[in-house]
Amino acid sequence: MTELNRTVAVAPMLDWTDRHCRYFHRLISPQTLLYTEMITAPAILRGDRKKVLDFSAAENPVALQLGGSDPQALAECARIAEDLGYQEINLNVGCPSDRVQKGRFGACLMKEPELVADCIDAMQNATVLPVTVKSRIGVDDQEGYDQFRHFIDAVAAAGCNTFIVHARKAWLQGLSPKQNRTVPELKYDYVYRLKKERPELTIQINGGINDVAAVESHLQQTDGVMIGRAVWNAPWLLYDIDTFLQRADVNKNRDTVLSAYQAYCEEMLLGSVNLHWMIRPILGLFHGLPGNKKWKSYLVTESPRRPKDVSVITEARAFVHTIDTNPNRHKETTEGVL
Ligand SMILES: Cc1cc2nc3c(=O)[nH]c(=O)nc-3n(C[C@H](O)[C@H](O)[C@H](O)COP(=O)(O)O)c2cc1C
Repeated sequence: MTELNRTVAVAPMLDWTDRHCRYFHRLISPQTLLYTEMITAPAILRGDRKKVLDFSAAENPVALQLGGSDPQALAECARIAEDLGYQEINLNVGCPSDRVQKGRFGACLMKEPELVADCIDAMQNATVLPVTVKSRIGVDDQEGYDQFRHFIDAVAAAGCNTFIVHARKAWLQGLSPKQNRTVPELKYDYVYRLKKERPELTIQINGGINDVAAVESHLQQTDGVMIGRAVWNAPWLLYDIDTFLQRADVNKNRDTVLSAYQAYCEEMLLGSVNLHWMIRPILGLFHGLPGNKKWKSYLVTESPRRPKDVSVITEARAFVHTIDTNPNRHKETTEGVL
């Protein structure tokens, strides 16, 4: 099955894919590529570097997503990231927020392919890590496929050979970042066509991929899939995808993952972080199962009251009426009995 070598990634999501979320996703799936939230070059070079970049080697493989457009500053960040053990550097050319536009980075860089090429060139000279780009298919009045391919070609000419494409354009005026993730229509055919016309490039697709069937279908046409909101809402999807890719650990289930995450929380709670921050990525763990609603509401109400008490998670778990939540394991057991 050719899909086995394809990349599956969890999308960078500001305020969501922090180190705790990544640690949790890694417990579910050993091979899925994980991304940091977008971190701007000035935040790394002039801010609290430890705070923004600190992560655990157990989260790897992790790609650091950078926001910026100053080639030398980005190159310096790439060097720092390599020293810290990140495994890929990704440049954000997709974020449409006003703040990001004022800083002349994110999606507005779709209009400046030469500048993006300079950034890639500088970063590649500074690190041995792969340097990749996450882009849109266009911005504002960039309607056609040709402009999109022109952008990709210009950046590829600087040596970038991996592109993750959020398959909708962004409206830089008038739509919020949230609307820019739903309003402009998805055009998967642009990404498929790009892969056909530029087979030498690694092309991964992003946007609206919500289940295993969609993953399977996109992997027929591209080199990888990146999933954002669907994983946040139902993180066990990562396990289902691993099952489809024939790489899931059959001894794993939601409970084994949860106990490992609880142990991690206990350790983290010794520092300054509080439980209510760390429960956010696990809220969707029992998505679709009986008791899910109570599990979530107990965690949300109880964790701020008892910010250092990890047993809140055990108490919440009691609301979910399922013993072994791994369908593969169940199947195995049944087959074993038969
Ligand atoms: C809360 C949130 C924060 C996001 N932050 C980033 C970000 O920091 N960098 C980025 O490239 N995209 C960001 N995105 C966009 C996602 O990476 C992804 O491209 C988008 O959600 C479409 O994928 P999906 O339909 O699978 O969610 C964010 C999306 C969400 C929902």
